[in-house]
Parts: sequence; structure tokens; C-alpha cells
Amino acid sequence: MTAIPTIAELATPVVLLDRPRMEKNIRAMQEVCHAHGVELWPHIKTHKMVEVARRQLAAGARGLTCAKVGEAEAMLPSGVKRIFIAHSLVDVRVAPRLAALADQLDELRVAATSVAQTEALVKVAVATNRTLQVMLAVDTGLHREGVREVAAARAVAAIVADCPQLKLVGIYTHEGQIYGAKPEEQAAQAQAVLDRVSEIRDAIDPALPLCPGCSVTARMMAATGRVQVVRPGAYMFGDMALAVTSKVMTPAEVAIHVLVTVVDRPEPGLALIDAGSKVFSSDKTALGVHAMAVDGRDIQAVRLNEEHGYLRGADVDALKIGDRLQLMPAHVCPVINLTDFVTVVAGDSVEGRWSVDARGKVQ
Ligand SMILES: Cc1ncc(COP(=O)(O)O)c(C=O)c1O
Repeated sequence: MTAIPTIAELATPVVLLDRPRMEKNIRAMQEVCHAHGVELWPHIKTHKMVEVARRQLAAGARGLTCAKVGEAEAMLPSGVKRIFIAHSLVDVRVAPRLAALADQLDELRVAATSVAQTEALVKVAVATNRTLQVMLAVDTGLHREGVREVAAARAVAAIVADCPQLKLVGIYTHEGQIYGAKPEEQAAQAQAVLDRVSEIRDAIDPALPLCPGCSVTARMMAATGRVQVVRPGAYMFGDMALAVTSKVMTPAEVAIHVLVTVVDRPEPGLALIDAGSKVFSSDKTALGVHAMAVDGRDIQAVRLNEEHGYLRGADVDALKIGDRLQLMPAHVCPVINLTDFVTVVAGDSVEGRWSVDARGKVQ
């Protein structure tokens, strides 16, 4: 009998995906959605992996949200039948790829994000010679894409109605500004987001479904009875943003850790590790932390160079060269996009590797 490999045998730095934790997070979100009769269309920008998409769909996800056409193409082997590309498509050269996607799906949704963008989208849609479902973006406080007022929403809806290749099927928003809210402010901010999208929706067609998308708010949005779809992305992995700052999950539920090795102790109070911004990206929490120890010790990565991380904290002086520790990243999405594969684990046991299929698919 061959022994099951363990984490102790892995070379570092390496991104660990705890499969049972992730599957529990997938099930938990799906159960909330089922309980409230809300469709789940997870955003795959966080995981970019066919193996994860398969599990989300098997659990009951109605469709997948993608940021780019390349992400959507990469997810086709998951067996997905409905995809929403939640980005401002404007380049007519993308039409053949959209047509090919539409032919392989039951439903392809695209985004109408402003009057000017919708005018460009019409040209793209006509060139596909297919009927594309359209989701109207509403800005609810992130101040990125999305109509800012009712008049713009009505103008976008009119352009869509005039185009035989486009059909308006819903209203969406990404309420990412709520990552900056204190936990006790989240519910009120979520209600304000809903009030805003409802106002715009009611001015166009009160029958249109509301489809917000954010891991901080997904559960509370689903429970309001006011939305028909939620589209969270990071919920099945988690990170410091969700488990430490927003506190919508516990640190023990976070399914992605980075295993690193202490490679030097150049001065008291400082340990250098073998993972820097090429593993963690440059993202950090509002308090300036790129990653933190998951075992409860007071150890944080507070500075990164490309191939070095600087660990500080009250427990750093107990670290020795060669020690290995697991860190929870501040923001999981770029960590996944920086690695070719994740190592799949169940506790200490190593089960294998999954490739990050949509890694770098930014077109
Ligand atoms: C348009 C859109 N929808 C949904 C999401 C998912 O949000 P989260 O990462 O908070 O789960 C994002 C994230 O950036 C997004 O941009």
C-alpha cells in the first residue's frame, strides 16, 4: 500500500486548496439560495477552475458569471449551460467568439453598462447574428460600470429594445464597496443597494429580476426576498477580506492557504519567507497586511518584494530558518491567477493538483 502524501512533502511556496472546506462553502451558499428560491450564478473570476465550476453546478448553481470571454470559453468543459459575461463588451472583433459560445450554451448573457457602451454592444451583437440576453448594469456605490440614473437606464433599455439581437432579461450590480463597510453596517448598505436597483428596475420593467453579486452580501441579499439571483465569487474560498475584515465567514472556513518556508532571519522581529508579490500579488488589507498565519500566532506578512515576504508580529522571533507555515491571503482572487495549479488537500493529506484553467484569460 502506498502512503497518502502529506503537506510535509510539498515544495514551497505552494497554494493549498482544502477540498472539504471548499465543498462545504459551496453547499452552504447553495442551501441559502435554495431556501429562498434564489438562483446562484457564481462568479468564476476567483477560482478560474473547471473542477470548482463542476462542483458549483453539481450543487445546484443555475449558471456561471465570468468577467471575460476567455474565462467563459475556459469553463465550457464544466458542462455549464448558462453564462453571464459581466463586463463591458465593445469590440466587434469578439463577435465570432461570442457566436461560438452562444452555440454551445442554452443561454449567453452580456452586459449593458452605459448608453455609449450599449451603442457599441449593438454592433457586436449584430455581428454575432445570434440573440444575446442582456443584463443592465446599475452603479450602486462602487462607481465603476453601470447607469447612474433612471434616464440613462431608460435610454439603454430603449437601445436594447430596438436591436433584434438583444433582449433585456435582468438588472445587475456589483456592490463591492461593501467590502469597506463595518460588519454592523453591512445590512443597511445592502438594503440601500437594493433600494437603488429596485428604483431603476421599476422605472423600466418591474418584472425584471434583480441580480446583485458580492460575497459579503450574497447571503443577506438572498434572504431579503427582493432578489432573484446572487452572483458571489470569492465565497467558496474566502480570504482575510471575508473572514477577518467583513467577518461573513470564519477563518476556519477559509479554503485557500499558502504554504511558505522561512528562508532567513536577518534581524530580531523579522522573518523572510520564500513567497512575495509573485505569489500573493500586492493586494493588502486596509491595515496593510498581505497575509496572516492561520494557526492563531501573531504573524503577518506586512511587506512584499517579488520573491520575498517580510513577516512581523509578536510570534515572529519563535520562527527558525526552514520552518514552514500556512498563511491566509488578504485577497484570494489574484493569488489564484498567479499560480498554474493549486494543490488539493483534505486536512494534511494531499489529493492531487487542479490546473487554474482560466489563469491569465484576460481577453
Ligand atoms: C461584476 C461582478 N460580479 C460579481 C463579483 C463577485 O464579487 P465577490 O468577489 O465579492 O464575490 C464581482 C467581483 O469583482 C464582480 O466584479
